[in-house]
Amino acid sequence: MLSGKRILLILGGGIAAFKCLDLIRRLRERGADVTPVMTRAAEQFVTPLSVSALAGEEVHRDLFDLTKEAEMGHIQLSRSADLVVVAPATADLLAKMANGLAGDLASTLLMATDTPVMAVPAMNVRMFLHPSTQRNVAQLKADGIEMVGPVEGDMACGEYGPGRMVEVPDILAAIENHFGPKPLSGKRILVTSGPTHEPIDPVRYIANRSSGAQGTALGEALRNLGADVVFVTGPADVAPPSGVSVVQVQTAQQMLEAVQASLPCDAAVFAAAVADWRVLTQSHSKIKKQNGALPVLEFAENPDILATISHMSEGRPGLVVGFAAETDDVLAHAQAKRARKGCDWIVANDVSPETGIMGGHENAVSLLSDAGVEDWPRMDKADVAQRLAERIATALAAT
Ligand code: C5P
Repeated sequence: MLSGKRILLILGGGIAAFKCLDLIRRLRERGADVTPVMTRAAEQFVTPLSVSALAGEEVHRDLFDLTKEAEMGHIQLSRSADLVVVAPATADLLAKMANGLAGDLASTLLMATDTPVMAVPAMNVRMFLHPSTQRNVAQLKADGIEMVGPVEGDMACGEYGPGRMVEVPDILAAIENHFGPKPLSGKRILVTSGPTHEPIDPVRYIANRSSGAQGTALGEALRNLGADVVFVTGPADVAPPSGVSVVQVQTAQQMLEAVQASLPCDAAVFAAAVADWRVLTQSHSKIKKQNGALPVLEFAENPDILATISHMSEGRPGLVVGFAAETDDVLAHAQAKRARKGCDWIVANDVSPETGIMGGHENAVSLLSDAGVEDWPRMDKADVAQRLAERIATALAAT
């Protein structure tokens, strides 16, 4: 899969650097060439000897190496790779990258390179959550740097939270995905995700238990296949995917407006759990208790975004996919929903509490289309997303 690919691997100074020894070995097993670069701090965690022995290449460590600089060595080094991977990307390295500092070999290479860069952050949770790191990460994403992780977990420093470097298999998957086929390249795909919040008064709202996990996984899978993803999300628990256009909304009405403003698109996937009703008149001040008298809320029906888009007579996306979250008679309800809403496919699932699907990591879905019903086995939401994204790619390729 990675045969002949040239990876320039920049190791930063963090305890997670030891994992990069295994990363180098596995990259080489897959046929990649790894050219290692180490910062001074990285040398405190792993030795250049171990790194070069595993890479089978000398480790580059110095910017002011006269022999190499006579041939503009750092410029050549920065351009000769197919992908630059920074792992572990420490707070310091991210800050240098985001701000254009070039005081050592690693940061100079990162400024001089014209090849794609992937950063795999690893640091203490407080350092990661610090506003400066968060600013730098946002800037780097906007600059087109591919961020892989970090994830939440136990850290070497004894704390728990986001900042832990993703595991080596996940770095490998991200690198393989980077070089993988991009059948959705040039396709614009809209995804709705998360719940909506329908306000009652300035402090209260009606919501549902959707975490946004399935929609986010779908956004990521479509992006990985090269799609230009517009991700319209309600207030979800899960952070939206990186590398997509994110539009954040609160209510169903705002979601409809955002969806309409995002058209035209080649395909639209409506994974959001949109509230069916909103409170007819939202109180502009907090509703107070009134000597035991109970407030009476009057409801109004929300627009059905999926049905509205499916029934567009002009400018309808070529493929419209809806979701049906049901607790009983799943298939019968989903069939009826597909006909009523006018969408091409329905992804149906059983969200009864005992399934643990709503808010959980796994999903068991059936895909309903003109071709009939396909039952997929229970699998990770990321795998459901991957499979659905591949199916969407196949369907769009046929049009
Ligand atoms: O009717 P129900 O909410 O079960 O339909 C589910 C499908 O319809 C999902 O794809 C959901 O995103 C979409 N939907 C919508 N607008 C609504 C309600 C549901 O787009 N107001």
